[in-house]
Amino acid sequence: MAVQLRAAHRPGRALAALALAAAGGLLAAATVGSGPAGAAGTTLRDLAEAKGSYFGTALTQSNLNSSTITAIAGTQFDVVTPGNEMKWDTTEPSAGNFNFGPGDQIVSFAKAHSMRVRGHTLVWHSQLPNWVSSLPTSQVKAAMENHITTEATHYKGQVYSWDVVNEPFNEDGTLRTDAFTNAMGSGYIADALRTARAADPNAKLYLNDYNIEGLGAKSDAMYQLVSSLKQQGVPIDGVGFESHFIVGQVPSSLKANIQRFTALGVNVAITELDDRMPVPASAANLAQQATDYAYVVNSCLAVTGCVGVSQWGVGDPDSWIPDFFSGYGAATMYDDNYQPKAAYNAVVTALGGSSSPSPSVSASPSSSASPSVPPTGAACKVSTQVSAWNTGLTENVTITNTGGSAVNGWTLAFALPGGQSVTNAWNATVSPATGQVGASNLSYNAAIPAGGSTTFGFQANHTGNAAAASGFTLNGVACAAG
Ligand code: XIL
Repeated sequence: MAVQLRAAHRPGRALAALALAAAGGLLAAATVGSGPAGAAGTTLRDLAEAKGSYFGTALTQSNLNSSTITAIAGTQFDVVTPGNEMKWDTTEPSAGNFNFGPGDQIVSFAKAHSMRVRGHTLVWHSQLPNWVSSLPTSQVKAAMENHITTEATHYKGQVYSWDVVNEPFNEDGTLRTDAFTNAMGSGYIADALRTARAADPNAKLYLNDYNIEGLGAKSDAMYQLVSSLKQQGVPIDGVGFESHFIVGQVPSSLKANIQRFTALGVNVAITELDDRMPVPASAANLAQQATDYAYVVNSCLAVTGCVGVSQWGVGDPDSWIPDFFSGYGAATMYDDNYQPKAAYNAVVTALGGSSSPSPSVSASPSSSASPSVPPTGAACKVSTQVSAWNTGLTENVTITNTGGSAVNGWTLAFALPGGQSVTNAWNATVSPATGQVGASNLSYNAAIPAGGSTTFGFQANHTGNAAAASGFTLNGVACAAG
């Protein structure tokens, strides 16, 4: 049954699924679930699995009440991390009283949709009930071990991995002071890992933290810790890079950092990816977000031992970002209406898929009946024409839609050569003025029909390099030169 459900989500089989659903009603839920699946042709999970990877999401108990969220989660993602339901304040709110109901619901959803579960998290300074922090230090070790043993035993065989310890470090790489370090010093981490291994020998055991994605003091500290745990023979299988990024600020050392951890003999997972920006989101930031997402996925795919990527949440409305980072949002691949954004298309492309519907797919009744084909993303060709003088230039850029369907609303992202700075533009808004730039349509030229073209241009200052812009992506999809 699980296999049939998965197959039903492949657009190529959608008609068969519809027929089956009509015949028996059995697959009706699955067919509804394939509605907002995203780009025609395939899903993030199918593409990731074809590359030996996975694409995960986080889900909370309340998310399970939204048919929109569950439909996307069950079709696009193959790993789920409970957003809050396996944290200490939920699972053991008072000493020795365990509550696994909410976590069990997430596990049931995962099973029903053939998804693996990342258990999150056994030991963390946050979302820790007061009774633990109020214990005499002499009792914390026993409380921690009992918590780990009881929870990991309850979920034994049902979780693929555990974030055994979450966020142990300060920004400067020193160990965070909390109930656990107060009671046990740095030794609590090895003790937690050993206790988890004893309870569920088959779960992959992770340490998870944020701001360790690039090289720096905090990731150096994690690196030293993992290296020393390995030397002591403490069970550790992986490191989670949370990856709560700000648009345009994904560390350029991400891949090198993944590589050095995997060289220690542990896996790396991107565990909580999002990429926030000031809201309302600008077209340029949404284009940059597509670049960022593709960069993260490509960095993981490039390193054997980086096992997969999980986004933190399904779409912008259920993301934690607006509640925790005032003025920021739009951090996920799905917009306020759960339509795929340019970042989604960019990830599809990074995973080796095609984000433009093929003519045969878009002609099929199943796909044209679906509201899910994203308006963004298309095959494209870009040509440029520069007229330069000693300190300035004008450049006209022609975009040709070489895909099989119209583009409605576009952002063309590209790189300006160093020293060039845009002073004004026509037929598009262009920002920022330098570096990685996004040009977005105006109201009158939003549509580019299949096979059609549109031209915009800009004037720029330069300091000697009057070369044309390069590296064009249309709504996150790379364009051919021409
Ligand atoms: C967040 C949840 O998304 C919120 O709902 C909750 O209020 C706070 O925690 N790092 C982690 C996650 O490891 O557990 C956090 O999740 C986000 C930051």
